[in-house]
Amino acid sequence: MAIHIDPLEKRWIFVTAGLAIMAWSMTLYFAAVEDIHPPSNVEVIDSARLHLDSGVGGGEFMEDKLGVHETPDGLVVTLVAARYGFYPQHIELPLKTPVKFRIASFDVLHGVHVPFSNLNTMIVPGYISEITTSFNKAGDFPIICNEYCGLGHAYMYGMIKLVPKNKFNIIAETH
Ligand code: CUA
Repeated sequence: MAIHIDPLEKRWIFVTAGLAIMAWSMTLYFAAVEDIHPPSNVEVIDSARLHLDSGVGGGEFMEDKLGVHETPDGLVVTLVAARYGFYPQHIELPLKTPVKFRIASFDVLHGVHVPFSNLNTMIVPGYISEITTSFNKAGDFPIICNEYCGLGHAYMYGMIKLVPKNKFNIIAETH
């Protein structure tokens, strides 16, 4: 026995199914052809041992290794997100230069967002978030946490000072 479906209902089933198929195809197209996808980097770290030089991660996120580094592959920023701040809390970076951020959480889930840039990703405890971007707007910008992480969430911050390339001096950086 065939189920009776109202013709109007039937029409809307096709409309919603069509919309869903369209959304899936767009996601597939942009992922496969345009290589656009959320930042992903499956690299694990032991959040409880970030401060030690042993264990998974080999001490990359120890306190005295945080901040901006010049490497053969360009500038790398090593950041720790913890309740309630980003450490080091003040960093200086040059404009229009690719910068690779490597961020780990010390405790719970955090997010990182810098206004007027596309630096925006989750920081999942146990994983290293890696994102490469460059900045085009000079000035002081807050680093904002955009995942609710506890009572101090609204006060969790860091600061990025973006300066023209010729004014950037990695030695003058203060933590
Ligand atoms: Cu960290 Cu909200």
